[in-house]
Amino acid sequence: MKGGGGRAGLAQWVEVSRKALTHNLAEFRRRVGRDRKLLAVVKANAYGHGILEVSRIAIGAGADWLGVNSLEEGIELRRAGVRTPILVLGYVPLGRLGDAVARGLRLTVYNKASVDGLAAACRRLKKKARVHVKVEPGTNRQGVLEGELPAFARSIQRRPGLVLEGLSSHFANIEDTTDHSFPQRQLAAFERSVRGLEKAGIEVPITHMSCTAATILFPETYFDMVRVGIGLYGLWPSKETYLSCALDKREPLTLEPVLTWKARIAQVKRIAKGGAVGYGCTFRATRRTTLAVIPVGYYDGYDRGLSNTAHVLVRGQRAPLRGRVAMNFSTADVTDIPGVGIEDEVVLLGADGRERITAEQLAALAGTISHEIVARINPLVPRIVV
Ligand SMILES: Cc1ncc(COP(=O)(O)O)c(C=O)c1O
Repeated sequence: MKGGGGRAGLAQWVEVSRKALTHNLAEFRRRVGRDRKLLAVVKANAYGHGILEVSRIAIGAGADWLGVNSLEEGIELRRAGVRTPILVLGYVPLGRLGDAVARGLRLTVYNKASVDGLAAACRRLKKKARVHVKVEPGTNRQGVLEGELPAFARSIQRRPGLVLEGLSSHFANIEDTTDHSFPQRQLAAFERSVRGLEKAGIEVPITHMSCTAATILFPETYFDMVRVGIGLYGLWPSKETYLSCALDKREPLTLEPVLTWKARIAQVKRIAKGGAVGYGCTFRATRRTTLAVIPVGYYDGYDRGLSNTAHVLVRGQRAPLRGRVAMNFSTADVTDIPGVGIEDEVVLLGADGRERITAEQLAALAGTISHEIVARINPLVPRIVV
């Protein structure tokens, strides 16, 4: 199909389906109910889907909170006029804590230096800062150790300006396995932490631990809020999660992929039998071959591991990649697809007619997970809501 409309001048773009995203969010809302908060995880440019585009749709579809990784992502949302509560899940350097307070961003805290810095920023700015303490769940990444939690929580309560709003934790391997004994132990540890604070007379209004896989599989992980990322984008966290859901005979959940990555063919050329394709001459044509040169490479986030293995869709048909994925170009074999011309659309990820290239397929070929396939699409590639 020849490109038209707003895409006419683009070499490549990402389409974000409002319908699919709204559907996925509704599926999670149906699972957790209206009484719990649903936080849409929009970190990493909304897993590559476009942080502003996704955040606006998610808020419109009923997301209560947004979760980002960095201060910069939070500031981008505030600058765009987003007033929804935003929780920064990742690390904010001590020197930037004042910026977070000034923008009313909630912060995840787990060490004294951040608490001290936040208290100072609150004094200086005469503003309050709401914080969520992260409990170390045995992943040994971020978090306060269980035994140190009551003292840490009290140290926050003592600081004027700081509001202890949340208590959070995060599963280590809930999506990696159908054996959920480790997540069960993590859940038990988190429940102990919640009870420990209650016993110490420390009230925390919002406890939260559940990611996509937990929200699909284990209602007992919901607490006051769930933090859903990958599922919102219509991708299952893993085959194991899909299988566990099916085996548990849980109410089925349908997820619709949100993202389609398209490009326009830059050149069509015919090469003779024996001709080499791309850097390293890793492909030699075994017949007279028609090639479509696609202006997308690993700089754009199209994994180099897809060289000579992946397919793209042209006119609704699969065309195998030939040769190496280069920094800015890839090449597909369109010999068996008649009538292909310059500027025709190519689907690198997503559906065209009855064919679909999934993030899971590309991830398997590239030796990674679907999260990385979508999250690494270069933020400079335009995102277009359809
Ligand atoms: C702290 C935290 N919560 C929630 C999520 C969302 O996880 P998922 O994409 O599996 O829903 C992430 C993602 O890595 C995270 O880091």
